[in-house]
Amino acid sequence: MKHLLKLADLSSEEIFGILNLADQLKYERKNNIAHQHLKGKKLGMIFSKSSTRTRVSFEVGMNELGGYALFLSDRDLQLGRGEPIKDTARVLSRYLDGIMIRTFAQKDVEDLAEYGSIPIINGLTDYCHPCQVLADLMTIREYKGSFKGLKLCFVGDGNNMANSLIVGGIKMGMEVAVACPENYRPDAGIIEWAEANGKLLITSDMKKAATGADVLYTDVWASMGQEGEKKEREKVFKNYCVNADLMSVAKTDAMVLHCLPAHRGEEITADVFEAHAEEIFDEAENRLHAQKAVLVKLLK
Ligand code: CP
Ligand code: NVA
Repeated sequence: MKHLLKLADLSSEEIFGILNLADQLKYERKNNIAHQHLKGKKLGMIFSKSSTRTRVSFEVGMNELGGYALFLSDRDLQLGRGEPIKDTARVLSRYLDGIMIRTFAQKDVEDLAEYGSIPIINGLTDYCHPCQVLADLMTIREYKGSFKGLKLCFVGDGNNMANSLIVGGIKMGMEVAVACPENYRPDAGIIEWAEANGKLLITSDMKKAATGADVLYTDVWASMGQEGEKKEREKVFKNYCVNADLMSVAKTDAMVLHCLPAHRGEEITADVFEAHAEEIFDEAENRLHAQKAVLVKLLK
């Protein structure tokens, strides 16, 4: 594993390897056992979009591993003024040991990896969010013990989260169901891959997707960069809500996950969110442990 550009690039064994190391690092952190595997290593963190969890967990994670993280906003970098990504890649490779980037186009992340000479980590693009799904998988395994026989249901926009959850879910052997409006389906290439490699249902019938689910997952109706579509999306997605009625068709012990930030009253009701807050904030915490594992695998 040289980079983390998308989950599709990783084998199931590599994903299990990351999850196992993440569990170990979580245990070591809780028990004050030193794990400074990245002493003196430097991670650049390029952000072209907002972030709470990704930014803080990468920065704290590098620090706990004995390394150092630099926050690089594209509002300050020459990248934001048009310096090509392939030049930025070659320059930053001379200073840093790795780069985490959150941006719009997946191609920019792939180009960083192609032109740079250091590991690149995708911290979210319009196409996918692999770091989030590694934390999600870690959380599911923590609560359920294993992935065997589980059904994962995603409700909402066929966005970056849906794309990565399909790939991660199928690679871990889960059955995946996505409930989304007809014109908001996940990436066609990912659907094709998933249908060939596992069990995937794409439907606009939320109850059908959620029936018997072990994990219900949702995300915002309008992602970062789609602010101009907000009004239209509110109409299209108004019924795509994880509420008590939808929970009633899932397994009685179903867990609810959300990558956050959450919009209560839109994709999830306040009562369902608060009833599952423990799981959702464990999931947010696990961003730290899962990403530390990725950093160790790539930078050590
Ligand atoms: N879930 C997630 O990536 O959160 P941030 O946008 O706060 O980083
Ligand atoms: N789909 C959301 C995820 C945020 C973590 C977005 O891209 O804004």
